[in-house]
Amino acid sequence: MRTKIVAGNWKMNLTFEQADDLVNEILDYLKDNPTENGVIVCPPACYLELASDLAFESEMFVGAQNISQHASGAYTGEISAAMLLSMDVNYAIIGHSERRKYFGESNEMLAAKVDQALKHEISPIFCCGEQLAERQQGNHFDVVKNQLQESVFHLDKVDFGNLIIAYEPVWAIGTGENATPEQAQEMHSYIRSLIRDKYNEEVAENTTILYGGSCNPKNAKELFANPDVDGGLIGGASLKSDDFIKIIEAL
Ligand code: 13P
Repeated sequence: MRTKIVAGNWKMNLTFEQADDLVNEILDYLKDNPTENGVIVCPPACYLELASDLAFESEMFVGAQNISQHASGAYTGEISAAMLLSMDVNYAIIGHSERRKYFGESNEMLAAKVDQALKHEISPIFCCGEQLAERQQGNHFDVVKNQLQESVFHLDKVDFGNLIIAYEPVWAIGTGENATPEQAQEMHSYIRSLIRDKYNEEVAENTTILYGGSCNPKNAKELFANPDVDGGLIGGASLKSDDFIKIIEAL
């Protein structure tokens, strides 16, 4: 069966000291409240080593917010999959809509990033999701299908099994306007049907599909109650341990 997961995407926030405190608060909670579910934090790259050192032998996993599509070499400012693995980073967010929008990441580039991650035993948290106008025009299903087809459906069954999908409708990110539980369930079930068609029933049933976009302690339970919503990728509400912990408890 698939694992339920809450992952925090800190984006470009927090000082070193604040990052240290936040990781320690989450670890303290997990020590007293062991869980079968997955808990992942994705801090900015400069705090990955801190987080992964603190998380050693704990129940918390650490993910990067991005990964280079190249293996190594003259790519100033980039961080490779091998570097992440050498710091015990086990996950990487790939294809976040902010990376697509502000850093011009295309579906083709994202496919190369997914390949790099998997080559180094890093599980991609692959983000997909439509813009508001695309939903208003009724194109949201086609947009998400195309993102999956061009960036992850080249994988074989075994590699795809190491992938986590995050459905993040762009209009819900940072806006306070989350997708309704019905909208989330509808898209998640559609994504699972695409995986079933591409691979098989077993792969579809085993794939964790997270929801992201203004998910908070108030709406998490209702969103996670849907059969195809296996947890969340949390932005703003992952920056305070109280909120993040309440979301973990909503799983
Ligand atoms: P918010 O939870 O702040 O809307 O961000 C969601 C997100 O982009 C997570 O990757």
